[in-house]
Amino acid sequence: MSLNIAIDGPAGAGKSTIAKLIAKKKNIIYVDTGAMYRAIALYILRKGTDVNDTEAISNDCKGANVTIGYEDGAQIVYLNGENVNAFLRTEEVGLTASKTSAVPAVRAQIFELQQKLAKENDCIMDGRDIGTVVLPWASPKIFLTASSEVRAKRRYDELIAKGESADLEQIKEDIEKRDYQDMHREISPLKQADDATLLDTSNMTIEQVADAVIAMCP
Ligand code: DC
Repeated sequence: MSLNIAIDGPAGAGKSTIAKLIAKKKNIIYVDTGAMYRAIALYILRKGTDVNDTEAISNDCKGANVTIGYEDGAQIVYLNGENVNAFLRTEEVGLTASKTSAVPAVRAQIFELQQKLAKENDCIMDGRDIGTVVLPWASPKIFLTASSEVRAKRRYDELIAKGESADLEQIKEDIEKRDYQDMHREISPLKQADDATLLDTSNMTIEQVADAVIAMCP
């Protein structure tokens, strides 16, 4: 049985930063499931489909073949063979992914890819429903969170560091909107698994969080 670590939590809690660090320390792959949902959202945006039209999204997502590969340990997401990594991390794609990922046909498509990766590889996988739905067997399971103020500030600093313009209040509003959408959808809502450990990272350093997770690993 592969080593499968699950990290779930709201947007901006630090899941990907922590997961990448642990992947490196444990020499396992990092699977970023948000990027898979973002790739489908990008496909839907490019197609011009109404993001509120569930039926149209269910139909259109069939044309989006999402696969992943690794280059120097970094995950590359391919959408119908095109490397789309450079287009995935915008606020527009994130908010759209939060909507399109609530469509059952989209989740079914991504679910199989996620389970296959975990069965074939030692991995740390992050998302919203990894511990609850995708990898119920994962161990350890972590639910990572932080206050919305702290999460917004982290995103803001990230954007500023990249030389992009950013509005802290707007980011906080977007984060809270996404939290609400992710927690209140009917299918696979964001919630802590019964057997997950809650880590509030508001006042923890990245190293402290990574050490806490590694201490839980078999
Ligand atoms: O983690 P992220 O910000 O890249 O995720 C983008 C959106 O994708 C998020 O708002 C909800 C959705 N998502 C999901 O529904 N299930 C996952 N396992 C990962 C992400």
